[in-house]
Amino acid sequence: MGFQAGGPVKGALFCDREEIIDELWAGIKGLKSGARQNFALVGPRLIGKSSILEVLRERLEREKMEGIYLDCWKIYPSSLQGFLEAFAENSMRSVSEALGWTARARSRIGDAIKGTVSAILDLTKSVGVEVEDFLKVWVDFRERRINISDLMRKTLEYPEQIAERHNKFFVVILDEFQEIYKYGPDFIKYLSATIYHQRRVCYIISGSAVTLMRRILEDRGSPFYGRFSVKWIGPLPEQDVRKLLVRGFKGEGVSYDEDAIIDIIRKTHSHPYYVQKLGQSCINSITKRKSGRISPEIVAEAYDDMLCDLSFHFEEELRKFEPRYRNILATIVLQDAKTPSGIAAKLNIRAGEVSPYLKRLLDMQVIEKSEAGYELMNKIFEDWLRKHYSD
Ligand SMILES: Nc1ncnc2c1ncn2[C@@H]1O[C@H](COP(=O)(O)OP(=O)(O)O)[C@@H](O)[C@H]1O
Ligand SMILES: [Mg+2]
Repeated sequence: MGFQAGGPVKGALFCDREEIIDELWAGIKGLKSGARQNFALVGPRLIGKSSILEVLRERLEREKMEGIYLDCWKIYPSSLQGFLEAFAENSMRSVSEALGWTARARSRIGDAIKGTVSAILDLTKSVGVEVEDFLKVWVDFRERRINISDLMRKTLEYPEQIAERHNKFFVVILDEFQEIYKYGPDFIKYLSATIYHQRRVCYIISGSAVTLMRRILEDRGSPFYGRFSVKWIGPLPEQDVRKLLVRGFKGEGVSYDEDAIIDIIRKTHSHPYYVQKLGQSCINSITKRKSGRISPEIVAEAYDDMLCDLSFHFEEELRKFEPRYRNILATIVLQDAKTPSGIAAKLNIRAGEVSPYLKRLLDMQVIEKSEAGYELMNKIFEDWLRKHYSD
C-alpha cells in the first residue's frame, strides 16, 4: 500500500483531519440529546471533503447509526425529481436498516420508488404503514394527482417522520451540495425550512464551488444563512503530510532522503491530492530506474512527470477561460506582473480594462490577492502554466 490519488481515501490511506472529524462526530452525537447541529464542509476540489465524509459514514455504520448519503454530482437525471428519487430511495434504505426490514423487502425499494406495482405491493405487505403512505405519495405524483412541490415536501419530511415514530435519528450527508442549489428557489426555501425545523435529522453538506457556497451559507439574504456551522477545509498539517509520505514510501519498501520529504511538502503545499500524486510519481520514477532511493533529484523528475500527467486536467481548466483571461494569467505567471497597472503595461492596455477580469478571477478563486499583489491560488497549476507557456 503506497499512495492513492483520486477518489475518497479511507483506512490507512486517510491521514489526519482529526479535529474536524471529532467536531463533526460530537455534533452528530449531540443529535440524541436534542442539541442538533448542521455542518457544511467547504473547500476546493480534491482537498479531501469526500474522504472526510467517507470516514464519517464508516463511523456511523460502526456505531449503528443511520446515514442517508447522496453525492449530488451523481444524481441522474439532474433535476429536482431526480434528486427526490435518489433522496427517497436512500432514505428508505436507511430506514430499512434502522427498522430491520427483511432482505426481500429491501431489494424492492428502488423499484417501488420508480413505481413498479409489484414492488409497491411487496413492500407494503411486508413493511406496512411505514411505507404505505410514503409510497402512495409517489404513486399519486406519477399519476399526476399531486405536483412536484407536494412530492418534495413529503419526501424531505420522510426521515423525520420515521425518526419520530420510532425514536430514531438520521444523519443526511449531501456531498457537492451546490449541484442541487440550481433546482429553483422553491426547493431551496423548503429545504432550508426543513433543515431548520427537523429535530431528529441533522445535515452535513459539502461544496467545492467555494464562491457559490460562501454565497449560499454566508449571505444574509440566503435561505441557508446561519443554518450551518461552516468548516473550511484546507491543506493537511505539515507533520501529517510527513507521516503520510513516510508511511507510503515504507509501504512500497523504498528508502528516502529527508530532503526529498521537505521538497515534496514544499512543492505540493501540503495539498493532500498532490501529496499522494507526487508520492506515486516518485515511486514510478525509481521503479523506472530500477534502483535508488527517493532523493531531491527524483522528486524534481517526478514533479515534472506529475505536471505532464495533469496536463489534460489543467488544459481543460484553461479552456474554460476566454483569451483575455488566459493572457492575464500568463502575464501574472510568466512576467511576474502582480498589480493591475503592471499587468496592463505588459498587455499594452489600460489598467481599468484589467480590473474587471481580475475581479472575476478572484471571484472564481483562481487568483488571490496577497501583499505582493495578485497570485495564482493553485501553485501546481501555476507551475504547469509556466511550463506550458514556455514549451
Ligand atoms: N485525509 C487525507 N489523507 C490522505 N489523502 C487524502 C486525504 N484527503 C484527501 N486525500 C487525497 O486527495 C484526493 C481527493 O480527495 P477527496 O476526498 O476526493 O477530495 P474532495 O472531495 O474535496 O474533492 C484523494 O484521492 C487522496 O489522494
Ligand atoms: Mg468530493
